[in-house]
Amino acid sequence: MTKAKGKLFIKTFGCQMNVYDSERMGEALAEAGYVTTDTPENADLVILNTCHIREKAAEKVYSELGRLKQIKTARERQGHGTTIAVAGCVAQAEGREILSRAPVVDLVVGPQSYHRLGDLISRAGQKRGGIIDIDFPEDDKFKHLPARPKVARSPSAFLTVQEGCDKFCTFCVVPYTRGVEYSRPVREIVEEAGRLAQAGVREITLLGQNVNAYHGNSGRSEPASLAQLLRALAEIPELERLRYTTSHPRDMSDDLVALHGNLEKLMPYLHLPFQAGSDRILAAMNRKHTRDDYLELVRRIRAARADIALSTDIIVGFPGETDEEFIRTLEVVKSVQFSQAYSFKFSPRPGTPAAAMDDQVLEEVKSSRLQELQAVLNEQQAAFNASCVGWNLDDVSYKAFRAICVHCLKVR
Ligand code: 5AD
Ligand code: SF4
Repeated sequence: MTKAKGKLFIKTFGCQMNVYDSERMGEALAEAGYVTTDTPENADLVILNTCHIREKAAEKVYSELGRLKQIKTARERQGHGTTIAVAGCVAQAEGREILSRAPVVDLVVGPQSYHRLGDLISRAGQKRGGIIDIDFPEDDKFKHLPARPKVARSPSAFLTVQEGCDKFCTFCVVPYTRGVEYSRPVREIVEEAGRLAQAGVREITLLGQNVNAYHGNSGRSEPASLAQLLRALAEIPELERLRYTTSHPRDMSDDLVALHGNLEKLMPYLHLPFQAGSDRILAAMNRKHTRDDYLELVRRIRAARADIALSTDIIVGFPGETDEEFIRTLEVVKSVQFSQAYSFKFSPRPGTPAAAMDDQVLEEVKSSRLQELQAVLNEQQAAFNASCVGWNLDDVSYKAFRAICVHCLKVR
């Protein structure tokens, strides 16, 4: 049996891919002898798994480190050491800067190095001044992480199938923090999904920054598409529900759209960011689609699956966005009718082209646009929720999930 190493506390910021990564880190460290705890005050090892997508998200990490500094000092007085690690996208993007800004940090580890975590933590414990590993190794980190546990923590699980992005939207840090697109091989994913199913999982959400660009090794000459991967996973008898997120409109291939109409296990829910409604802004964002492309795609998806619930991401106040251009965004929202949406004020991220563009929009203009947009989105969400009232959940064939909505992951 592995000797107990101490207590571990992981705090996760940001997207579902970070939630998945935190789970895998937790599992790897459990194998190395760590036991999880719910509070940093009890922890010998604290990991912050961070997000760099908007300035607010990154700043949260530094305020959390301020709190951890006090905890570390208090624990020292009681004779306990604490190792503090910063993982995730802030680690990747800011590297050494974290150690100078927050000397309380012992280890900075990028998302591609989690399989080396055990070794890095012991080295960090021996070296003063902190250590950094933010390489993009050639190696597939997933191959080196331990297999998923034998008993699932929940009937619903995430499974990362694709990482990184080659789209280079001009506002986005992902291509820099997560690197170029990489798809895991089909066999590896099917094995992991099979193990999750054996452990009691009944619903899997496939994750990727650009998940529908998936093109993993199929063992044949042609790589597998996301639609082919979904079909392969649907063959696992214990799995009752499949979802995937996040998708780019450009990569919604015909076979994937059609699958929404003919793969029963694929849930009637799709997250499809459109970001902005003006073609000029979409071009400046390098989105590679127009407003009409998006609306036509929504029409085709609804033709395949009429009751699909659509959610989206929207940015207001991209550099140069005029009032008229913002109205184009409202028009798209009104025309599509989303069940849910995430909307953000444009946040200039260091190193991205949009951060250096002229005509940055005033903060108060961004705020009032966001407010106006969110009022419409809230109405749409309320209308969608109201449409679900009165469902007889016993009629839903997926008995194991009676309490979980088929459209989203929320417990109803
Ligand atoms: N400013 C505001 N929102 C952003 N997003 C990504 N980068 C930025 C940024 N610089 C939003 C996009 C994306 C979601 C994950 O976060 O809408 O789809
Ligand atoms: Fe970022 Fe998504 Fe654009 Fe990729 S497609 S650059 S992850 S917003």
